Amino acid sequence: MNYIGQAVNRTDGIDKVTGRALYAAEHRLPGLAHAVLVMSTIPHGRIARIDTSAAERMPGVRLVLTHLNAERLPEDGKAGANSPPAGRIMSLLQDDQVHYNNQPVGVVVAESLEQARDAARHVRIEYERYEAVLDFEQVKDASYAPEKVKTDPPDSLRGNLEMGLRDAAATVDALYTTPTEHHNPMEPHATIAAWDGDRLTLYDSTQYVTGVRTTVAKTLGIAPERVQVICPYVGGGFGCKGSTWSHVVLAAMAARRAGCPVKLVLDRPQMFGPVGARPETEHRMLAAADASGRLNALRHDVTAVTSFIEDWIEPSALMTRMLYDCPNLETRHRLSKLNIGTPTFMRAPGEATGSFALEAALDELAYALEMDPIELRLRNYAEKDPEKGTPWSSKSLRECYRQGAERFGWQRRTPRPGSMRADGKLVGLGMATATYPANRSQAAAMARLLPDGTALVRSGTQDLGTGTYTVMTQVAADTLGLPLEKVRFELGDSSFPGAPVSGGSQSVASVAPAVRAAADALRKKLIEMAIGDPASPLHQAGIEEIRIEDGWLCRQSEPARREELTTLLARHGGQPVEATMQSKPGDEKTAYSHHSFGAVFAEVHVDPDLGEIRVARIVGSYGVGRLLNRKTGRSQLMGGIVWGVGLALLEKTEYDLRDGRAVNANLAEYHVPVNADIGEIDVIVVDEDDPRINPLGAKGIGEIGITGVGAAIANAVYHATGKRIRNLPITLDKLLD
Ligand code: MOS
Repeated sequence: MNYIGQAVNRTDGIDKVTGRALYAAEHRLPGLAHAVLVMSTIPHGRIARIDTSAAERMPGVRLVLTHLNAERLPEDGKAGANSPPAGRIMSLLQDDQVHYNNQPVGVVVAESLEQARDAARHVRIEYERYEAVLDFEQVKDASYAPEKVKTDPPDSLRGNLEMGLRDAAATVDALYTTPTEHHNPMEPHATIAAWDGDRLTLYDSTQYVTGVRTTVAKTLGIAPERVQVICPYVGGGFGCKGSTWSHVVLAAMAARRAGCPVKLVLDRPQMFGPVGARPETEHRMLAAADASGRLNALRHDVTAVTSFIEDWIEPSALMTRMLYDCPNLETRHRLSKLNIGTPTFMRAPGEATGSFALEAALDELAYALEMDPIELRLRNYAEKDPEKGTPWSSKSLRECYRQGAERFGWQRRTPRPGSMRADGKLVGLGMATATYPANRSQAAAMARLLPDGTALVRSGTQDLGTGTYTVMTQVAADTLGLPLEKVRFELGDSSFPGAPVSGGSQSVASVAPAVRAAADALRKKLIEMAIGDPASPLHQAGIEEIRIEDGWLCRQSEPARREELTTLLARHGGQPVEATMQSKPGDEKTAYSHHSFGAVFAEVHVDPDLGEIRVARIVGSYGVGRLLNRKTGRSQLMGGIVWGVGLALLEKTEYDLRDGRAVNANLAEYHVPVNADIGEIDVIVVDEDDPRINPLGAKGIGEIGITGVGAAIANAVYHATGKRIRNLPITLDKLLD
């Protein structure tokens, strides 16, 4: 029996397709009322007058909460510092200030959703407007350095850039930009808040149940033990559900005041402001190489937007520090403040945008050198982490280039732009490197054998639709020697043993070792029970001699001497047996540099008259340690690639620069890729073992899939058309210029 690595079907698949799986807004509670947020309609100013009388008189309305009547929270509502992820400054009706358009400024609670929505529209607000900063172009030159980028300094320098630029055979000096993007998971943010005396239960769509508990408790000034956060299913997160936003606390405040449980769901337009975004970025790239392709100088200066209430930093140049063995390298991160909602993590924050700039610049350099782009990358292959000097925990990037190029048919590419055609279309082939850190944090799990011979395993982690339920069930079943269907894995409850945020591609790498440790401790307990039990056929056997197979304890040398787990438990009073274990990285975390790597190859077809771009094929090949489930793993990598197509060609939040409101705040006008936009996607996972990331050898796969795709497509578009588009998304108007 060996489930790990198999293409096991999702254990939660049937519950999902039959609707049995309950998402946050679907939990039914008696007496539930509906809350709707009232949002600001100006980008900067103060509420001069707010008139709730009409709304309060409307049918079914129980409560209209504004800054005039909301409870005063400790620390002016600016509590909630929580690390990781970043602490958020929320909008909790503590003052009359408006910092961005579409900021929550009130909550209406009514018996029905329709009544609440209607009443929310009847809250009359008069504003005193202040001047707003809305245009990145106007403020980007006055940017400032943040204190830190993740745990690193915002600026870095190695070698001497001037020296590296001397005697260059080719130099690229170019500006790349990426727009603001919003996450748009299918399931919007949703919270149900229910108080029972002084205890609060939250059904919340979140990537971090214990994070929500800590933040909400701290913000409301109550003990974390009095808050329970439940989230069995998430309909997509992508980073926007990685931190606790205003609406979660507002739901709790509204429920407390209304005296009944309250459900608060953001509608699609409300997702464009108060719950984060990928910030607009600008990258000044400078790259120089000698005639042999040796990268002698590399500079990456990134400026990103943030809000006036909080610094959020898009760490785009961190990957530039580690990806190539360049002796002279300079990076800088800068921020510019705008009257917008605070940006946040969005799938591969930093790497998604940074890899576009870096990998497109390298493509330009390859053309300038008349060198194959893969060859250029191989000549600057980093054998160890060039920034830290530490060895990689594992790195199969050479193999990724090789296998990806072979599967893609890279050798058929004729390098000259515009030289390939098919069916009247310009054909372009482009490639780029993909990379993302291989993170791991502390996590805990509990494993319990029940008298009926089934096991219940729990950890306070989350499943964003990616396969956590399935993979943890596989790990537990293998460790316990039980068939898959006899193991139930539960997650998404802050009362379970704690696990980290399902962000940073770390859930499997962090939680699987904890599940393995707990299941292994339980296994040993059961074996010891049998050995110490004179009534057991395994009495006084050696601990190492005994295995559990298919629910039976047996002696390896003497398979006939065996007994079923249920029999053992029955003799011991029919009580469950359980073990809880914690698992965390050790010294290997600093002794090695942990990253996943990959190579992305894209084929685009461009209509020469209309500029329409179709992505015919993408091959992504990745070294991600051991893939615990081939099916869910490939799906997740494929999903990342699809995201990359959106980044490259479609996604952009358009702001009205007069009032700072997103004008395409809906899925009809904010374009994400649909099936018709996606051609063939081929995912290769190269054989890679990484015992230094964790005992299971598994690196995360949630984010690497999107990295490199923007550049691979932009490079393919250049190859097809000879037009170098440095501003994402690459829409057809840019090709018709
Ligand atoms: Mo991911 S953007 O770290 O949730």
